[in-house]
Amino acid sequence: MTTTVRNIPEFTLPDPVHRIGGRATTGAGTETFASTDPTTGRSVADLPAGSVQDVDNAVVAARAQFEDGEWSTMPAAERGKILYRAADLIERDAETLAALEALEMGKLYRDSVAGDIPATAAVFRHFAGWSDKLTGQSASLCDIGDQKRFGFTMRQPLGVVAAITPWNNPAVIAAWKLAPALAAGCTAVVKPAEDASLSTLRLADLLTEAGLPDGVVNVVTGLGPVAGAALAGHPGVDKVSFTGSAAVGRGIHSYAGSTFRKVTLELGGKSPQLIFPDADLDSALPWIAMGNFYHQGQVCAAGTRVIVHESIADKVVDGLVAFAEQAVMGDPFDESSTMGTIVNEKQMNRIMGYIEKGRSEGADLVTGGARLDGPGLFVQPTVFRGHNDLTIAREEIFGPVATVMTFSTPEEAVALANATEFGLNAMVYSSDISRIHSVVEKLRVGMVWVNGWGVPDPALPWGGRGGSGIGRELGRSGIEADTEEKTVHIGYTGL
Ligand code: NAI
Ligand code: MG
Repeated sequence: MTTTVRNIPEFTLPDPVHRIGGRATTGAGTETFASTDPTTGRSVADLPAGSVQDVDNAVVAARAQFEDGEWSTMPAAERGKILYRAADLIERDAETLAALEALEMGKLYRDSVAGDIPATAAVFRHFAGWSDKLTGQSASLCDIGDQKRFGFTMRQPLGVVAAITPWNNPAVIAAWKLAPALAAGCTAVVKPAEDASLSTLRLADLLTEAGLPDGVVNVVTGLGPVAGAALAGHPGVDKVSFTGSAAVGRGIHSYAGSTFRKVTLELGGKSPQLIFPDADLDSALPWIAMGNFYHQGQVCAAGTRVIVHESIADKVVDGLVAFAEQAVMGDPFDESSTMGTIVNEKQMNRIMGYIEKGRSEGADLVTGGARLDGPGLFVQPTVFRGHNDLTIAREEIFGPVATVMTFSTPEEAVALANATEFGLNAMVYSSDISRIHSVVEKLRVGMVWVNGWGVPDPALPWGGRGGSGIGRELGRSGIEADTEEKTVHIGYTGL
């Protein structure tokens, strides 16, 4: 199907069905669900709502490929070649992948085509290079009696990885979970989010085109409580890699706890942006604004607690307000838009509920706060002045809502930053290296950006502490988490 509505580049929708064992299939059930364009309210595609049986078929296909197929045993460098090819194909089809994401969930096409999709390719390229570089340790061990001993460790693929992904960065996050798993020799089943499955289906097709054998990557579309829950609880899965809400993450974790299954959970945050008086505000303000308004604030690493020294608070608020008031909310395919839509009506209601809560708890609304008339799901970028005890400063909103609060001493700044149940990331803006380093040491988070905000790099791990989840994706830690480490003791006698 070719779409030419609005000024959307011409592209083809992927076949909107599951990918199981190398086949495109509507699966065992007859239920479907609609994916909707949040800009127009029109349906984009009807997708099969995967059943327990579909999930089982996909896990069986992944398991069969892992146990008896060629993927996990082929020379690692050969796996790497296929993943390099996949990266090239993702770049070749960047316009299509970006258009699918803009159409399904209202992300700016421009940001997707220049940001998310190249980042997706970069993740595959990074882990393609890791395929043949997973090494172990070796050690000379103590003798036992006459027996001399030597030992080493080897890293073997973990098995079948279940990837449950969110709608906010669907291709990138699928890549974070798939690329290291595949490089390590694992196979996978992906359950993409209801609101944005199409770029993941396209990605699976590109992986097939790159030469991935049947059954290595399977995709089951469907609803979280049915297909997602069936996948997270399937006994044929060795690891669940989940990105999404804390509520769902908690359920996945407790089940994994009772079955000793490995998990990675990335559950979002309420991240602080600490701005010290010696910060270069001209360069900091665009980052601080981006940390609140990029992708309409629907970002796990968003820096929505703006914690600023009292001496520069007015300047920072004025700067943020200027960014907010210059925003052009519009069709994500329109070149002049700087903000697209909220993903769906439920998320919109959630955001509006938080804005109302901010007002009713006495926060000072400096700009924004209103939803635009439909059909598009647009909300104004919003800035409150307030304090850390407000609901809007404690809970993840996943919308373009900043709460600015002040501090007077660095100790107070750190205490405010750490006064949260989350611990994903923090941003520190300063030009004093001693200040920066001493603050970085004390922040209870998984990641810190200094004089910048939130852009990941596949070379370094991504993940949080506390309520933001457990485990790491990306970097060496990310790929090692898709392996089992085996220790081998070898006994031998002397010459
Ligand atoms: P969600 O956690 O319901 O969805 C994430 C994924 O989990 C989707 O693929 C969904 O189908 C699946 N899922 C849902 N219920 C499941 C279950 N019982 N078992 C297994 N999988 C299940 O998140 P939702 O409803 O889309 O967003 C709600 C809030 O979650 C957002 O407002 C935001 O605060 C947070 N969130 C955080 C993300 C992050 O990047 N850490 C991404 C998306 C949402
Ligand atoms: Mg949608």
